[in-house]
Amino acid sequence: MVRVVFVCLGNICRSPTAEGVMRHLVRETGLEGAIEIDSAGTAAYHTGEAPDPRSTACAARRGIVLGGQARQFVAEDFERFDYVLAMDESNQRAMAELASTPAARAKLFLARSFDPSAPAGASVPDPYYGGPSGFDDVVDMCEAACRGLLDHIRKEHDL
Ligand code: 4NP
Repeated sequence: MVRVVFVCLGNICRSPTAEGVMRHLVRETGLEGAIEIDSAGTAAYHTGEAPDPRSTACAARRGIVLGGQARQFVAEDFERFDYVLAMDESNQRAMAELASTPAARAKLFLARSFDPSAPAGASVPDPYYGGPSGFDDVVDMCEAACRGLLDHIRKEHDL
């Protein structure tokens, strides 16, 4: 089993979107028995909440179902998961502080680093305080990143 976790700040907008997109792609590829997918937030503000309705609506328009309840990322997640995917550099820095070994640090990536068309260091910007187009942009970025991540995992793990 290959295990991936997407991480943003609140775990109600970007990372649940990436989780839903990745689940959708993995199911399309028939690999749901081989790849486990989760999401978390670096902050605990929204613990227990469902994804933001604006994210859920945007994803639903593309046939993607979002679910789960927000939870905070914990240091032990570095043991449980093989790929820890930060949505932006601030999330990446917060998690780097929790990564106590070189093996843990080696699992930490920016999600968009798997999108071959994204510039180096590209983030998925926080849509929470912005307008509706920001939520659509998040889905677009997550789709491109997740396609690249799935290609990478399939090659790396012979799936
Ligand atoms: P997310 O978006 O990190 O993509 O889930 C946010 C959600 C909530 C807040 C910030 C960002 N907040 O400040 O409450």
